[in-house]
Amino acid sequence: MTTGQTNTKATNIVWHDAAVSAEERWERLCSKPCVLWYTGLSGSGKSTLANAVDRLLHDQGYATYLLDGDNIRHGLNKDLGFTDDDRIENIRRITEVSQLFNDAGLIVSTAFISPFVSDRQSAREIVGKNFIEIFVDTPLDECEKRDPKGLYKKARAGEIPNFTGIDSPYEPPVNPELHLQTTGLTIESVANQVVDYLVAHDFVHKAS
Ligand code: ADX
Repeated sequence: MTTGQTNTKATNIVWHDAAVSAEERWERLCSKPCVLWYTGLSGSGKSTLANAVDRLLHDQGYATYLLDGDNIRHGLNKDLGFTDDDRIENIRRITEVSQLFNDAGLIVSTAFISPFVSDRQSAREIVGKNFIEIFVDTPLDECEKRDPKGLYKKARAGEIPNFTGIDSPYEPPVNPELHLQTTGLTIESVANQVVDYLVAHDFVHKAS
């Protein structure tokens, strides 16, 4: 290293309580924030569904924000690839960002493959009781048939290493709050299932 600095992790840091509490911020936004954590294979419909739900909630007046795998990998996480370690770091950062946005009072949606049970479990523990895991359960053969970005074709041809579902594992959720099928259904009907869940659990009001 040319700077003479050593690359050690931060020590001697002390948590500083905020003058404005989370509850005060939430009250300002008239919101009961949560994290909608969509998980599923590439091409399963996570982003499409998360966007459809986000649109419905925004149009109802809720303050929302959506973090999308492909988009976040253009910025915050552009230094990360698709090895197991990079995926773990990807999800760790997204967990922390979601927690911050949630603390700020937003209804946060995350659309990441997030293939490992342990990382989603950590996200659940960090976010707390407002964590809603949504398994977008589109089978591999259907994702591969859709292949919206042509990536499965490339992966099968050996052009993309570590592709989820091909040569990198996907561990399905054990006990998600919502387990959704998408095959043969419209996006609107699946999005409404998510909103119905939020209404039933008092996160949002029924649209009038
Ligand atoms: S995750 O596994 O770390 O959660 P993330 O959701 O951020 O993945 O990114 C997945 C998206 O990256 C896919 O939808 C696809 O467009 C693209 N992608 C590129 N390479 C791969 C790969 N090896 N495995 C899975 N997705 C990939």
